[in-house]
Amino acid sequence: MLPQIFRRKNLDAILHEGENPEFQLKRVLGSFDVVLLGIGAIIGAGIFATIGTAAAGDMARPGAGPALILSFCITAVACGFAALCYAEFAAMVPISGSAYTYSYGTLGELVAWIIGWDLIIEYAVGNVAVAISWANYFKTFVAGFGVFIPDWLSTDYRTAARIPGLFESAPHILGVPIVFNLFAVGIVALITILLVVGIRESSRTNAVMVVIKLIVLAFFVVVGMKYVKPENWTPFSPNGWAGIQAGAAIVFFAYIGFDAVSTVAEEVRNPKRDLPVGIIGSLVICTFVYILVAAVFTGIIPYHALVRMLATQQAEPLTLALQYANIERWGDIFIGVVALGAVIANTAVLLVFQLGQPRIFFSMARDGLLPRSFAKVHPRYRTPHVTTILTGVAVGVTSMFTSIDEMVDLTNIGTLFAFILVCVGVLVLRRREPDRPRAFRTPWVPWVPLLGIASCLYLMTGLPWVTWVRFGGWLVAGLIVYFIYGFRHSRLRQAP
Ligand code: ALA
Repeated sequence: MLPQIFRRKNLDAILHEGENPEFQLKRVLGSFDVVLLGIGAIIGAGIFATIGTAAAGDMARPGAGPALILSFCITAVACGFAALCYAEFAAMVPISGSAYTYSYGTLGELVAWIIGWDLIIEYAVGNVAVAISWANYFKTFVAGFGVFIPDWLSTDYRTAARIPGLFESAPHILGVPIVFNLFAVGIVALITILLVVGIRESSRTNAVMVVIKLIVLAFFVVVGMKYVKPENWTPFSPNGWAGIQAGAAIVFFAYIGFDAVSTVAEEVRNPKRDLPVGIIGSLVICTFVYILVAAVFTGIIPYHALVRMLATQQAEPLTLALQYANIERWGDIFIGVVALGAVIANTAVLLVFQLGQPRIFFSMARDGLLPRSFAKVHPRYRTPHVTTILTGVAVGVTSMFTSIDEMVDLTNIGTLFAFILVCVGVLVLRRREPDRPRAFRTPWVPWVPLLGIASCLYLMTGLPWVTWVRFGGWLVAGLIVYFIYGFRHSRLRQAP
């Protein structure tokens, strides 16, 4: 059995698969679209929701304080190493399925399955967190117009248990209080419909949203700068290195997404050039923006004031900072603009990840590791509609009942693990097939992949132990599914 589960797909066969008309997606995206898709995936709940907790810390970890700026730098470096490895693979194997597809060709079926299963955490669980953040900011935004969404319609059950009086004020059915996040599930449903109808329409929508969210972050920086007090940056690192590392492990969420670009490889016109440009370009632009936002945020709210705020307030850090600045003229309008920006940014992230997840399922189904019906392409829209709808239902339902912090931690550990396997894959393939043409070559091999592995591992150790336990449970569940279904139906194993 061992040789079978480690059987590798021939990379040339993988490349030919995308040419089968039965499973073909439309090649409509250019390099500019790809950079925009990258930024669309990257800037979202990470910068709009997680930096409050990263700077302040919580029960499970110390906060970074103003050294949040350093946390962003450390994470950017780790992501940079991984991005260079992703770029080599994405340009060489421009097939939808991302790290899953790459590892099938390099590390064998079992590892590919583990990555595919793990990517569900990055894409689907990550999107649960983004949908929750979307709903939080949406609530703040409409409150500016005097529309108040009740807490029982905008909270999960366990968070609600910590808010005094919430259960009493909620409606009851058979004595059970009804509490769920209506707007989180609502936005996921809308996006799912958009994605079933077609990728061209959705990538255009994405482009508009990317421009808006860059403007809104610039707006936050320009408006907020006037209220920065340099003395708030002292003490710079109230919890020392431990705080900086824990902060880096959280804000890693803000960078996830550059890799999502690789999942649309089969829909890109010139993958060899457009993919590396998209992946690395979007990462560089976002790093620059994040450092500015982190500096302004920590310059407005002093650390000692931030730690005293409620976790729910910290989950909306940018509007919190503007409220704290107590801007006299147009303060409420500025807050409204930033809240709207957060809603738009999160929409763009939801769009790219809801687009990526079905394409990974699609690739796995095409290989027989998931039921064949998952690989169906809609006869009219040419999109993988079965998996798109399945992802929409799973993400939407989960986002009604879970808390954002737990989902962010789980997403981060799962994604870091996938990055590590991609770095390993580059090393393995360089050794095994050194002469294969590579449109983009990761520089300084083996050092860049090795540093990628080390830095991602380092970030993983900054996450709470409970996250490790949950992640372990998820991987075990994945192995069970593989041996019950995938192992028996694998097309590669059935091939002569
Ligand atoms: N990087 C994405 C975000 O911050 C996941 O929302």
